[in-house]
Amino acid sequence: MHILIIGGSGGIGSALIAHFRTLYPAATLYATYRTAIPTTFKHKSSQSLDTKLHWLALDVTSETEIKNLAEQLPQLNAIINTVGILYDDAHTPEKTVNECDLAFFQKNIQTNVTPSICIAKYFSRHLKASTPTFFIALSARIGSISDNNLGGWISYRTSKAALNMAMKTISIEWRYKLPHCCVVVFHPGTTDTSFSKPFQRNVPTSQLHSAKTTAIRLVALIEQLRPEDSGKFYSYDMEEILW
Ligand SMILES: NC(=O)c1ccc[n+]([C@@H]2O[C@H](COP(=O)([O-])OP(=O)(O)OC[C@H]3O[C@@H](n4cnc5c(N)ncnc54)[C@H](OP(=O)(O)O)[C@@H]3O)[C@@H](O)[C@H]2O)c1
Repeated sequence: MHILIIGGSGGIGSALIAHFRTLYPAATLYATYRTAIPTTFKHKSSQSLDTKLHWLALDVTSETEIKNLAEQLPQLNAIINTVGILYDDAHTPEKTVNECDLAFFQKNIQTNVTPSICIAKYFSRHLKASTPTFFIALSARIGSISDNNLGGWISYRTSKAALNMAMKTISIEWRYKLPHCCVVVFHPGTTDTSFSKPFQRNVPTSQLHSAKTTAIRLVALIEQLRPEDSGKFYSYDMEEILW
């Protein structure tokens, strides 16, 4: 089994790698990082401890880098894109539309939406198999248009809604092109990573999941998915979310 985790250096990405290592020790994992390989996966000599785990540098905002990555990798059973941003050093999620900085809005689109489109563009041939394959992107319930009762967070919210539309569109196209591939978006719920740290204060403990729990839930979902589930939006509790 060959699995690609885009954003393996992130909180949920790292937990997914650890969980896959335990569950499928014979699987070969390819994991991408932008800034650095997480220290938990590194030997003192900077070599990966694990010969079945291959780290590759990738800035997902570069189409060329995604294309080059695709050229290096073999056939895959699953691709999971965990990359996402909600804030950066200069921006927090907007309370009102008046706070929206278009440069930050564009950054959300370039990080949260277009990478999954480019991954689909360059990796479709890697997912061609007569056995089930999976293309999963981490989204968020906040990207559901029908569930939007609060407003706010316009850059992140809009980017996740656009990601959902892109993945749904890819799922329809691949129904014929890759009939064994299941294309799904996944809402992890509030997960205790640096991504959600600044916003955890009002989250009840029961609704704040560890990255390990989120990883276990996502892998359990993947194990249940069938090609006919392609084009769906799933929550961590396995319920479908309305678009
Ligand atoms: N945590 C939550 O509560 C929560 C809730 C709902 C949805 N989600 C979604 O779940 C996904 C994973 O979240 P997380 O909690 O694991 O976040 P995280 O710990 O902040 O990890 C984010 C990852 O994105 C990578 N990244 C950001 N910009 C990149 C770029 N330009 N090129 C390549 N990699 C880039 C980071 O790489 P480096 O670290 O190497 O820079 C890191 O690996 C995101 O899509 C997020 O929207 C999370």
